[in-house]
Amino acid sequence: MDYMYAPGKNHLFVPGPVHIPDQVIRAMNRNNEDYRSPAVPALTKTLLEDIKKIFKTTSGTPFLIPTTGTGAWESALTNTLSPGDRIISFLIGQFSLLWIDQQQRLNFNVDVVESDWGEGAKLDVLASKLAADTAHTIKAICIVHNETATGVTNNLSKVRKLLDEYRHPALFLVDGVSSICAIDFRMDEWGIDVALTGSQKALSLPTGMGIVCASPKALEASKTAKSVRVFFDWKDYIKFYNLGTFWPYTPSIQLLYGLRAALDLIFEEGLENVIERHRRLGKATRLAVEAWGLKNCTQKEEWFSDTVTAVIVPSHINSSEIVRRAWQRYNLSLGLGLNKVAGKVFRIGHLGHLNEVMFNFQLLFQL
Ligand SMILES: Cc1ncc(COP(=O)(O)O)c(C=O)c1O
Repeated sequence: MDYMYAPGKNHLFVPGPVHIPDQVIRAMNRNNEDYRSPAVPALTKTLLEDIKKIFKTTSGTPFLIPTTGTGAWESALTNTLSPGDRIISFLIGQFSLLWIDQQQRLNFNVDVVESDWGEGAKLDVLASKLAADTAHTIKAICIVHNETATGVTNNLSKVRKLLDEYRHPALFLVDGVSSICAIDFRMDEWGIDVALTGSQKALSLPTGMGIVCASPKALEASKTAKSVRVFFDWKDYIKFYNLGTFWPYTPSIQLLYGLRAALDLIFEEGLENVIERHRRLGKATRLAVEAWGLKNCTQKEEWFSDTVTAVIVPSHINSSEIVRRAWQRYNLSLGLGLNKVAGKVFRIGHLGHLNEVMFNFQLLFQL
């Protein structure tokens, strides 16, 4: 196979999964442990406390679930909503599309607000829907903070402002899979009711842990929400939180120690410095794309993403070919264009465990 001849480390410039720091790999290199021993609950307690700092919440309740981002979506929806509930959901790219598909399959009444791919959520449409909804039929607003397929970051504080302006009680559910711990994210300040991410993104862990955080209002909603849920039921977690043993079922011990090491690294660097590092790498990527004479798929500066850049290629080139060559020649993984933008864009991921030296993508000039 061609790639066997590409020397060097495999560089993951995809927007997740990302490189895992050596300290985290070492922390996970251990035997299994009995999760009912005193050590695991003690470790879990520190994780639950510290993960809240990443979400910037003091009042939220976190759940560390053996799942991926997709399961975290399902946990957010089924714990807070009932079949038939009207929800507003913004379609701006492949991941918001997949979340909407899940919402529809869970039998919610999804009011889809669609944008061209490369644009952000249409908040003017949200404003008019909230203004018209004096009977409060809208039960939730679902939004992907950072659309990983197009490199578009939505402004969450504006969503909160609109909900407040219209005094609308809808729940505010946010996919922060490619933003939390990399792009400024403030669960409490922005009045987010459920926020979620996956371990393989900015936390730079292996895939396998979905992290969901619920506000007191979301927990209250979960008491009456009628969606069927079993594995994802927050009630089971809370029961074990109250017992002080924390786990309704067997956790991955290795991932828990990995999460401890990942959080320690983030706090050592400083969360604000982590966010600033992503800003720098995001800006550097955009400047490089401009210097190559190529266009960013993201249509306006206000939506530029600091974790992923989708680059539009000239129409005579298939972007998948660039991704293939990068992998074959350089052992370098770039993100493919997905769905509507397949063949038209390739994506450069710049999130997680990455610094300027690791992220030397100048070689792309030679592709
Ligand atoms: C914004 C966003 N949401 C959800 C997902 C789905 O996450 P997972 O693949 O971990 O299920 C992804 C995956 O890349 C994503 O980028």
